[in-house]
Amino acid sequence: MERFRVVGGARLDGEVRVTGAKNSVLKLMAAALLAEGTTTLTEVPHILDVEIMGELLRRLGCTVDYRPEERRLAITVPERPGHQADYDLVRRMRASICVLGPLVARCGEADVALPGGDNIGSRGLDMHVAGLERLGAVVENEHGYLVARAPQGLRGAQIWLDFPSVGATENLLMAAVLADGTTVIDNAAREPEIVDICRMLEGMGAKIGGIGSSTLEVVGVDRLEPVVHETVPDRIVAGTWAAAAAITRGDITVRGARPHDLDIVLDKLATSGAHVEALADGFRVAMDRRPRAVDVVTLPYPGFPTDLQPQLIVLNAVADGAAMVTENLFEARFRFVNELTRLGADVRTDGHHALVRGKEHLSGAPVEASDIRAGAGLVLAGLVAEGETLVSQVHHIDRGYDGFVESLVALGADVRREPDPDYPQEG
Ligand code: EPU
Repeated sequence: MERFRVVGGARLDGEVRVTGAKNSVLKLMAAALLAEGTTTLTEVPHILDVEIMGELLRRLGCTVDYRPEERRLAITVPERPGHQADYDLVRRMRASICVLGPLVARCGEADVALPGGDNIGSRGLDMHVAGLERLGAVVENEHGYLVARAPQGLRGAQIWLDFPSVGATENLLMAAVLADGTTVIDNAAREPEIVDICRMLEGMGAKIGGIGSSTLEVVGVDRLEPVVHETVPDRIVAGTWAAAAAITRGDITVRGARPHDLDIVLDKLATSGAHVEALADGFRVAMDRRPRAVDVVTLPYPGFPTDLQPQLIVLNAVADGAAMVTENLFEARFRFVNELTRLGADVRTDGHHALVRGKEHLSGAPVEASDIRAGAGLVLAGLVAEGETLVSQVHHIDRGYDGFVESLVALGADVRREPDPDYPQEG
């Protein structure tokens, strides 16, 4: 186990470059299962979750050649991949559930262990299951596994999602591309990561209409071909840097990002007093005063992303004024507030709402990351807290942020990774 030692008082200044999105690349890796042969992904971030998904694909019989320094990953899929994803990997990463759709489509069967994942709420799978059943699969819960069978193959169907779930949309899309006939997914998610996987599937030969809208129409094809595909930039990492600039009253240029994917986030930062500038290959956020408090309501895209909610709570915690932050996706995401209050923040939660009253100063203390974004938020808080903040359980942060400490140091922060003496060391 490792922790980050963060010394407060930094003003972040300089440039960072973002790589491909964690929440896209994991699904692109699963989508590779749909075609026999070698699919190559580029702009792949160097993060733990990519390693875990690589291991899962290896166990399904694929060859995975991951070159983190080149940000490239090649997956060679055999004619007949395995169909079982075991608990030891799935429990480490909930996104493993995204192999369910492609495996049923490709093999006619899938046994995927029920996931654990982030500590951010119940995160049901009912829409994944109901959608696959609509497509003709029989799905049961057996001994901790979701077992899906479609020996005669999947059939196109009309599916209405109760909620625009990212994971359900992706799983059903990957199942539908090889189904017999046309599938319409209504109330589909339309995150940039969904558009990314649609583009990759199109490159493989899939027929998809309505890309980027909430109604996706998929005409099934018999066979897909492997492709070379560039992963969409990570808007959540980019947004974390944008928030970091505003929180530390710094000036950060984020390269390799798409400002349009962050319209609502950058608008919030501008409302809080930041100077925001879109650039040809990214954007710049600069703040020369104490931020003003801004209300935030998380919603599916194009609403404010839940994955940037902790970072905005931190902004409000040091802002001038009070703000209401409403979390509509993952109820347990406010757990991180308990840690933030250890740094002196004034935050009260009630159900979906957090009332944040800005304080002039936070004060450093030991805190624990409970999920990826909570971890990032606590590091940002540590940057503006007086004294030292020790953030433990940083393996959560490593799941989603490529070279986080190195980038922070390059921007002028005093942060270092060190062994955590409070946890037994491996080896
Ligand atoms: N939900 C159900 N039933 C379902 C599916 C979802 O009730 O069948 C509920 C969930 O419980 C949750 C809400 O719907 O309350 C949203 O879930 P969604 O399926 O949209 O999210 P996800 O696919 O599980 C992905 C990201 C999350 C991100 C959310 C929302 C990946 C690997 N994960 O999760 O990312 O917060 O979409 O944008 O893509 C993170 O990166 O820190 C992270 C948690």
